[in-house]
Amino acid sequence: MAPILLSTLLFFAHSAVDGKDDGLALTPPLGWRSWNLFVGNVHQYELVAIMNGLVNRTRKNRFGKLVSLCDLGYCEVGLDDTWQACGSPRAAEGMHYHDAEGNPIVNSDRFPSMENMTEHAKSLGLTAGWYSNNCACNDHCNFESGECEMQIRQDSKALVDYGFSSLKIDGCGNEKNLTLWDKYLTKFSKKPILVEHCDKNDPLLGQGCPTYHFYRTSVDIRNNYASIMHNLGTIEAYRATNSSYPGCWAYADMLQVGVRHGLNIQETRSHFAGWAIVSSPLILSHDVNDKEITDKIWDIISNDEILGVNQAYVGESGGVYDTAIQTIVMDFEGNSPIFIPEYQYLSKPIGNGKVAVLLMNSADEPRTLTANFKQIPYVDCSYDNQGSHCDYLVRDIWKHSNLGRFRDSWSVEVESHDAAFIVLEHLGIGGDSDQNEKRKGLELLRLDSREKLMALV
Ligand SMILES: *[C@@H]1O[C@H](CO)[C@@H](O)[C@H](O)[C@H]1NC(C)=O
Ligand SMILES: *[C@@H]1O[C@H](CO)[C@@H](O)[C@H](O)[C@H]1NC(C)=O
Ligand SMILES: *[C@@H]1O[C@H](CO)[C@@H](O)[C@H](O)[C@H]1NC(C)=O
Ligand SMILES: *[C@@H]1O[C@H](CO)[C@@H](O)[C@H](O)[C@H]1NC(C)=O
Repeated sequence: MAPILLSTLLFFAHSAVDGKDDGLALTPPLGWRSWNLFVGNVHQYELVAIMNGLVNRTRKNRFGKLVSLCDLGYCEVGLDDTWQACGSPRAAEGMHYHDAEGNPIVNSDRFPSMENMTEHAKSLGLTAGWYSNNCACNDHCNFESGECEMQIRQDSKALVDYGFSSLKIDGCGNEKNLTLWDKYLTKFSKKPILVEHCDKNDPLLGQGCPTYHFYRTSVDIRNNYASIMHNLGTIEAYRATNSSYPGCWAYADMLQVGVRHGLNIQETRSHFAGWAIVSSPLILSHDVNDKEITDKIWDIISNDEILGVNQAYVGESGGVYDTAIQTIVMDFEGNSPIFIPEYQYLSKPIGNGKVAVLLMNSADEPRTLTANFKQIPYVDCSYDNQGSHCDYLVRDIWKHSNLGRFRDSWSVEVESHDAAFIVLEHLGIGGDSDQNEKRKGLELLRLDSREKLMALV
């Protein structure tokens, strides 16, 4: 679809308070960010190696074509915390990494040249993202005196001078005023800057994204199943109030997919699929140059049908439609236990009358899980006068295989911590016009990045 038509549709779909409406993040952003892999010890050369890995066409997609992660959409590469020179002798009185004029002070041992790093990204067709308001050495600037505004201004200027095109604004330091960030990013940058708002305690969260494009709903993700399921669960409140939509996505943190010493393959599948079906941004954080890891996860992160579910948007961001009453108690963050339903069923309409359904088993043993068609939002059983029955085609999107036509329900045995992922499609025989019109109404947006994805086929 031509860009002009897309923006016209968005203009009608949103009011000014909904989002920034600057054309960014019309679909959930895809990319890579440094925290889960490098934590507090990241260097320029490591990021450059990741950039090279993101564009290297070393693997085939399911149609036999060599593709890179960026070809699949993961083109935004972000630097996380610890680029700063904490405790710099050049820091102003009371500050850790800002000088007296409010300029950020970079740890030049780790990052000899931010400009070179972002130039490298650009030369590869990637975009580079920065990080601010950090936790590693936060500066307790003073709002009343104008000190914070000065820092926000100089940080924004530095972002543009360094050549970054996106920013994660964390919730640790005092530079939390997103209105001011927006003011100065707009002032210094010719093009819109993609902004992640990373403060789950902001009381205004879920009330639109006037100054940012996606927002963190959870605590920091950890590399275990309890944390994955906990963070996934935090999206639900936002989707229930329709607070996650183009230009304003609820985000459950970076992916732990392929990060060493954490999830087994079943849990990895559940993690990726869970983020995909709730329209969370998909931000990888593993070593993209590690062949052994890539062997294990390639089929998951390169699954075009699952990426398609994530990128589709027809007025509904996707979420839970049914859960078990029984819960599993899991150890969370080493102390407080959390309760996760033994099973959870999630769904998301993806256009053309198709609905994606994820059946997640959190029990310690395999379970038979059942998708009851009549229970699933946007699965329309009155279509084509089916009478008391509800017939749908079921497609397994892990395996890319059509399983056939099913009446009323579909059941499958799912391993512990694994998830079945299907798309239901109506048989489409005839069809009465009222219902067809309703369905067309759901297909507001033909997503440009989804079309790019399909072009790879
Ligand atoms: C791309 O991957 C190949 C095979 O793993 C490797 O030999 C090559 O150095 C990589 N290229 C870059 C630019 O990283
Ligand atoms: C930055 O890149 C330029 C041009 O490639 C090079 O001459 C310079 O040494 C680099 N600087 C740093 C600090 O890496
Ligand atoms: C942010 O800064 C602006 C301008 O100084 C001020 O009007 C506004 O109240 C501040 N917002 C918050 C949430 O502190
Ligand atoms: C949810 O909000 C978006 C953005 O305002 C809107 O386009 C969409 O139609 C809404 N969906 C529902 C089901 O109300």
